[in-house]
Amino acid sequence: MEKNKNLYGLNTFGMSAVADYYVRATSEDDVMRAIELSCEKKLPLLVLSGGSNMLIVEDLHAVVLHMDTRGIEVEGRDGSDTLVRVAAGEDWHETVMWSIENGYAGMENLAYIPGKVGSSPVQNIGAYGVEARCVIESVEVIDISSGERRVIAASECEFGYRESIFKNSARGRYVIMSVLFRLHSTEGYKLHLDYGNIRAELEKRGIENPTVADVADVVTFIRRSKLPEPSQVGNCGSFFKNPVISRQLYETLIEKHNDMPSYDVEGANDEHWKKIPAAYLIDRAGWKGYRRGCVGVHQNQALVLVHYGGGTGKDVLMLCQDICRDVKEKYGVEISPEVNIINSDFLARCAVGGKVE
Ligand code: EPU
Repeated sequence: MEKNKNLYGLNTFGMSAVADYYVRATSEDDVMRAIELSCEKKLPLLVLSGGSNMLIVEDLHAVVLHMDTRGIEVEGRDGSDTLVRVAAGEDWHETVMWSIENGYAGMENLAYIPGKVGSSPVQNIGAYGVEARCVIESVEVIDISSGERRVIAASECEFGYRESIFKNSARGRYVIMSVLFRLHSTEGYKLHLDYGNIRAELEKRGIENPTVADVADVVTFIRRSKLPEPSQVGNCGSFFKNPVISRQLYETLIEKHNDMPSYDVEGANDEHWKKIPAAYLIDRAGWKGYRRGCVGVHQNQALVLVHYGGGTGKDVLMLCQDICRDVKEKYGVEISPEVNIINSDFLARCAVGGKVE
């Protein structure tokens, strides 16, 4: 345990912020100790995983639990599928590479997403037409207020686009200990190649019959060329979610902006008609490459806000608010952050540790 720990280096935006208490957990015992500390100090417990999807905007009066547990284990088979348990602290991309090296399919489109395994169900991370929910079987958690273990089946996780129960009704309630994945045999497996420029990139490489390894390779290549590395410049990947707009708004917009891309949404209705890339709106509103002091909008990808160093979470938040306001004024579309904004309001919704028996 450390007191007054600066979280710089533990969040990919590279923000300096001090946490009252910090516990790095490499075992379940460490997690229990953090829960006890939260109970004793009457402070909320904030779980920190890869720190790759959070913007810390102030010092945190909390016990920050940094999940650093390891382990990837085959737990069993179900027909041609294999069930693999992965500890929350394992690196996501390394887990994807492990699955490919061991001959499993299902995770390849999710290569090179930053972060740890424990946050994959929270965000229901996704890319290139695949989401984490496609491979999650269940999530093992510890209830912070009672210290009890629970298994939450994928069907109970309320997965949606970058959404899950862990971001909504169960926010702040659990520490995710491990995720059980259902991976597929590569035999007879249908690859997902139709999203973005995966197919074009495979063709460019002269690959006619791609393997899961080829897909992961191409996805990694595309992500690296489009998205900035946090080691070079602070960022959290896509900062905004792609908004879903009404039929009426879509029809008004497409008339004026006939190059506006859109995606179909599942179960579309007049209120929720099409998904629009936030990147397009932010770009056309003139924000791409914009810089304001220590923060800005990435020059190659309008969805990504960047921190050049020396700034604060509040600087990024102000930029985010200005972009949202401007996009609303120019297009009538409300966009909102995908990244978790960590402040006292967020902490107020995190559980305080209960008495652990
Ligand atoms: N576009 C612009 N300007 C830009 C960038 C894009 O106009 O600067 C337009 C282009 O027309 C493009 C469209 O926006 O066709 C979509 O852009 P892109 O494919 O770059 O982004 P996206 O599809 O909206 C999503 C995820 C990414 C994920 C990619 C690939 C969200 C918010 N983002 O981006 O996720 O990697 O698809 O599947 O859903 C992340 O969550 O951190 C993330 C990077």
